[in-house]
Amino acid sequence: MKILVATSKPFAPVAVEGIRQVVEENGYELSLLEKYTDKQDLLGAAADADAIIVRSDKIDEEVFSAARQLKIVVRAGAGYDNIDLEAATRHGVVVMNTPGQNANAVAELVLGMLVFAVRNFYNGKAGSELKGKTLGLLAFGNVGRNVARIAKGFDMDVMAYDAFCPADAIQAAGVTPVASRDELFDKCDIVSLHIPATPETVRSINAQVVGRMKKNGILVNTARKEVIDEESLLQLLSDERPDLKYVTDVMPDAHVAYAAQLEGRYFSTPKKMGAQTAEANINAGLAAARQIAGYLKDGITKYQVNK
Ligand code: 3PG
Repeated sequence: MKILVATSKPFAPVAVEGIRQVVEENGYELSLLEKYTDKQDLLGAAADADAIIVRSDKIDEEVFSAARQLKIVVRAGAGYDNIDLEAATRHGVVVMNTPGQNANAVAELVLGMLVFAVRNFYNGKAGSELKGKTLGLLAFGNVGRNVARIAKGFDMDVMAYDAFCPADAIQAAGVTPVASRDELFDKCDIVSLHIPATPETVRSINAQVVGRMKKNGILVNTARKEVIDEESLLQLLSDERPDLKYVTDVMPDAHVAYAAQLEGRYFSTPKKMGAQTAEANINAGLAAARQIAGYLKDGITKYQVNK
C-alpha cells in the first residue's frame, strides 16, 4: 500500500524521517510530494495512493476523483476546512485530523506575537507588559487551553468564551468563562481567536464585535483568515479605532492595504507558521501515520471527522 505525504509547506526533515519509519514498520511504502505548486502534481501523485497525509493542502472533488485507490486522508493538524468532507464521503474515503498535536506550537506563537505587539514591534519605543492584562480566548479547544496555560506564566488574567464548551469545563482549567462573545470583547485587553472556519464563523469577526474592545486593545489571529470580515475590520482599525492593533499568522487577502493603512499597528507573518516547528511536525506527522495504520489494519476511526 502506498502512503502519500503531500505537503506544499513541507514538514521538518526529522518529521518526514519519523513518518517514513512508521510507514515502513507497518509494511507500507512512502511517497513524498513536497513543495508542489501545481495541482496536476498532486493529482498525479494521488492516483495510486491508498492514504494521503496533508497539512493545509486543498483536497477537493478533483483529488478524490483522481485518487481511485484512496481509503483515508489525514490532515496532520487541527483545522480540516481544506478538505471537502462531502466529496470524501461520496467517494467512501475516511477523513481524520490529529487534534492537539500542534497546539503548543501555535500557543507559543500567540504569546510571541503578543510580546512583539506590546513592545511596539521592537521599534525601540516604550511599550507595555502583558502582566496584569486580561486575555480573552475566543474558543477553548486545544490551542486555547495551551494559550491559557502559557499566559498564566505571564501573570495574565485569562477569560474564555466557547459556544460548545461548558462554562464549568473552562472554570476547571482555571480560566474565567464569560457568557457571550460580546462580553469577551467588552472585558478583555487582548482577544486571541481560536475558532475554526465554518459556515457559522466565516467573516464573523467584524467591526461590530472588534469595535467593542477596550482602548489600546490587541486582536491576535492564529486561526484562519476566513473568520475575519477583512473590509469591515480594516475600516474600523483605520477610521474609528486608531488605538487598536492587529497581529496575525494568517495573512489577509488585503494585506497590502492593511500594511499601508495601519502602519505600526499591524503585523502578519509572511506564511502561516504557528505549527511550523520540528516538534509540532513530528507530533502531527507521526500521529497521522499511526492513525492511517490503525485504520487500515484495525479499522480504528477515533479521529474521523466525516461520516
Ligand atoms: C492547523 O489547523 O493545524 C494549523 O492551522 C496548522 O496548519 P499547517 O499545517 O498548514 O501549518
